[in-house]
Amino acid sequence: MNVIICKDEKEVAKKAFELVEKVLKSKENPVLGLATGSTPLGLYNEMVKAYQNKEISYQNVVTYNLDEYIGLAKDHPESYYSFMHTNLFDKTDFKESNIHIPEGSNQQDALKYEDEVVKGQVDLQILGIGRNGHIGFNEPNTPFDSITHIVDLTQETIEDNARFFDGDKSLVPTKAITMGIGTIMHAKEIVLIALGSAKADCIKDTVEGAVSEQTPASILQKHPNATIILDELAAAKLAK
Ligand code: PGA
Repeated sequence: MNVIICKDEKEVAKKAFELVEKVLKSKENPVLGLATGSTPLGLYNEMVKAYQNKEISYQNVVTYNLDEYIGLAKDHPESYYSFMHTNLFDKTDFKESNIHIPEGSNQQDALKYEDEVVKGQVDLQILGIGRNGHIGFNEPNTPFDSITHIVDLTQETIEDNARFFDGDKSLVPTKAITMGIGTIMHAKEIVLIALGSAKADCIKDTVEGAVSEQTPASILQKHPNATIILDELAAAKLAK
């Protein structure tokens, strides 16, 4: 696992964009796995800027998102469908027919998405990380070989995400559909981004701890091409 420590959030976004751009420029029909949350926003801004400066087009890029809440309409402002359109897709030339975001609420819907992702073969998967080490909505103790499935969100994740719902935990959905850890590991390359001191402990566990289902992201130690990009705050607890 490669670990890159950057001075600040801006440098992290530029570094992540460099890795994305390399994949996009090396293939005719590149496939990106995308994440939501506040962490990838800097990367998405870089992607939008490059499009606006006519340096890049996303017309041939296929995307698969990691996860989606269950119980929010697609057009709800906090659905991940809305998040991706607002922050990336609507500001660029991604084709709607190339965009995949999981939807549905049962095991059959999950299996259908799993099949699409596996057949799609993600070239580069972007990940954030939860304070508890989750990737996608794979909370601690999710089996490493899990495939796309329906999850109950942990109290910690509901509390963390309440900030997007006017601070009201009762408005945060309690269930989601998410790629499994096995699905994520199937990507040819993985780039996990973490920002800020709240992520310092889970980053230490991910990079230096045991590979354990208690810290879902620690499985990246076993991936042949995984890079972790951190700001100095998120990297603060790593051994010097
Ligand atoms: P965040 O969420 O980017 O909003 O911190 C990351 C995650 O929970 O995966």
